[in-house]
Amino acid sequence: MRIAILGCGYVGLVSGACLAEIGHSVVCTDNDESKILTLNQGGLPIYEPHLKEIVARNVDAQRLRFTADLGEAVRYGDAVFICVGTPPLQDGDADLSAIDSAARLIARESRSSKLVIEKSTVPMQTGQKLVRALAIYARNSDSSFSVASNPEFLREGTAVLDFLHPDRIVIGVGNEPAETQLREIYRPILEQNVACPIHQQNCPPKEAPKLLVTSINSAELIKHACNSFLAVKISYANLIADICENMDADVEEVMQAMGLDPRIGPSFLRPGLGFGGFCLPKDIQAFIRLGEKAGVDVSLLRDAELINKRRIDHFLAKAVNSLWTLKAKCIGVLGLAFKPHTDDIRFAPAMELIGRLLQEHVRVKVYDPQGMEKTKALFPSIHYCADPYELADGAEALMIVTEWDCFRQLDWLRIKSLMQRPLIIDGRNLLPSDEMRAMGFEYQGVGIPTAEAWDMKSRAAS
Ligand code: UGA
Repeated sequence: MRIAILGCGYVGLVSGACLAEIGHSVVCTDNDESKILTLNQGGLPIYEPHLKEIVARNVDAQRLRFTADLGEAVRYGDAVFICVGTPPLQDGDADLSAIDSAARLIARESRSSKLVIEKSTVPMQTGQKLVRALAIYARNSDSSFSVASNPEFLREGTAVLDFLHPDRIVIGVGNEPAETQLREIYRPILEQNVACPIHQQNCPPKEAPKLLVTSINSAELIKHACNSFLAVKISYANLIADICENMDADVEEVMQAMGLDPRIGPSFLRPGLGFGGFCLPKDIQAFIRLGEKAGVDVSLLRDAELINKRRIDHFLAKAVNSLWTLKAKCIGVLGLAFKPHTDDIRFAPAMELIGRLLQEHVRVKVYDPQGMEKTKALFPSIHYCADPYELADGAEALMIVTEWDCFRQLDWLRIKSLMQRPLIIDGRNLLPSDEMRAMGFEYQGVGIPTAEAWDMKSRAAS
């Protein structure tokens, strides 16, 4: 099928490349011409594992191309996916102006019938507004539109795998032809006829993805309901971690036991610096606003958001407790991206942390395998290190903010010898507390027993 993708951000690029990978002819466009230029020169405006190979392969096979001509892209697609940004406004509402522009563009440029699919995360009833806008701005008597909602459940860092091997595909439709067209678009994925991007072969399938056909309103709500639930789950884990810290219990043990209950499940129970990134924080805010407008009591969501906002205060309090005052201290921040395997720093806890450390006149050094370039635009004058050893050199504390796997493999004894004071404040429980303390680090994690309790335990054991 001929597919147009409006918006070359994370969602648009991954969706466009993967739809080409499963055999469709895809054109991607964006009103940021510099992105299109980068893509046409063989570059990628974002880092996402496996995306580079998939884009290159499909461009070579002439199933994927990029154009700055928005109208040409719209006219090309039988199906047009709207993948533009819906960033938060000051009051937490989603800014839908890019969706509105996309609707007007599609209406103005279309010369035939099109399936218009919202993929961006949008508040409920946006589909209805889209239908109206398309009808109002349509200019050509040969054009007609069906609207569908097809929320994405892509996680940054595993987005390609999530697209090609999803657990479920949700399609919110208002009529049968739209359903048929979407089933056709996703047929290779539903039939698991897709090579695994990692192994380039048909790996033993996990369960076949489920296709859920819903109303458009329900599809829009499903996305918000999922992201808000994940946010609540993380805040719950952080609440338990705070209780553990006060009681010298170990949150890792508690979460492990909770996760073994199949009704709860182990994922999204990792306590730490809280949820960041461009999705969970903005989606829970938008959902709160939506609920308030509907007159629903959303205090559960508000509390989850509040717990999340306090994570940095809590983390900094630990630093003050250990370092007495922060002013003029040299602190290394290990990890900038909002989570591993991405270069995305939007709403990353590290950004707020660095801002707060600078307010306290801390000498901040940072290192991240992927997130340094983007951070430089926000904090040009802090010290960017070539590797974690340069970061450790002379530091009076290391703060672990992103749980990159490669940090686990570091030569921690070497790091200890380089630091002015071997203090580690681990915001992600990345490192084994017992081993770090046995190595001589002053080690603080999240929701784990204090060094004093650990001392007592080791004395009792010996
Ligand atoms: C999230 C959802 O997981 C996707 O399903 C959804 O499609 C996407 O938003 C979206 O709306 O587009 P993503 O933002 O890539 O995906 O990141 P997550 O893996 O959900 O992590 C979000 C944040 O929660 C990160 O800061 C992570 O460090 C934090 N987190 C996650 C925890 O603090 N604890 C956990 O146990 C899990």
